[in-house]
Amino acid sequence: MSKISLTTLQKMKQEGEKIAMITAYDATFSRLFDDEGVHSILVGDSLGMVVQGHSDTLPVTMDDMVYHTANAARGVQNALLIADLPFMSYSDVKSACHNAARLMAAGAKMVKIEGGAWLSETIQHLNRNGIPVCAHLGLTPQSVHVFGGFRIQGRDAQRAEEIYHDALALQAAGAQMVVLECVPEQLAERITKALRIPVIGIGAGAQTDGQVLVMQDAIGITSGYIPKFSKNFMAVTGDIRKAIRLYVEEVRSGEFPAAEHTFN
Ligand code: KIV
Repeated sequence: MSKISLTTLQKMKQEGEKIAMITAYDATFSRLFDDEGVHSILVGDSLGMVVQGHSDTLPVTMDDMVYHTANAARGVQNALLIADLPFMSYSDVKSACHNAARLMAAGAKMVKIEGGAWLSETIQHLNRNGIPVCAHLGLTPQSVHVFGGFRIQGRDAQRAEEIYHDALALQAAGAQMVVLECVPEQLAERITKALRIPVIGIGAGAQTDGQVLVMQDAIGITSGYIPKFSKNFMAVTGDIRKAIRLYVEEVRSGEFPAAEHTFN
């Protein structure tokens, strides 16, 4: 596989080829995932939960993100490496630029931020400074306390419209990718069709341009709870490499996510 850029992912969307993304937080796993053909690796602030053991992502710091991004970057040859800006690190444009620059210097090729149209100015500034942005919409875990828990978003018409219009606004502001988390499949499909940039789903059904999973969920090493939208690929293969290969294959073929992983 050759080096994957945003242009590659854009072309995949245009050609109807599905994109497989997974999280990684260190060089061992990012290398393994890269070897097995994952198109994009996300150093997610989910590390606050799956690596640090917190109950949400809010305690994750910029230093944590820089450390894990640098580690994951050392294992990546071809996949596009994206890193999350953590809670409150992009609450104003100046902090966003300063902190995003730290992630890019650590090896990220794109940063991800959670939130709606209010982030438009931030995205414009990041773009002007050479930093591509992935917007995260739907269930944005940094706002878990605003939502009153990890709840599906966009089930009612008003919230669905809000998410849809946020997606359009963020694309217009210059976002080059969207992650859509825990929304009904019908809304995800509407957004995916409306946007020219790739839409990557997690708990958003099979109609998005690609899928992302937290690696611990995909290989079934979480401490008991596996979200409905996830699948333990290692239960099928009994081997991590084969599990990741199977994940990529099932995303590409459209076999994953199935109806049982989808919200309506
Ligand atoms: O932090 C993360 O791992 C994420 C994914 C769940 C999309 O944002």
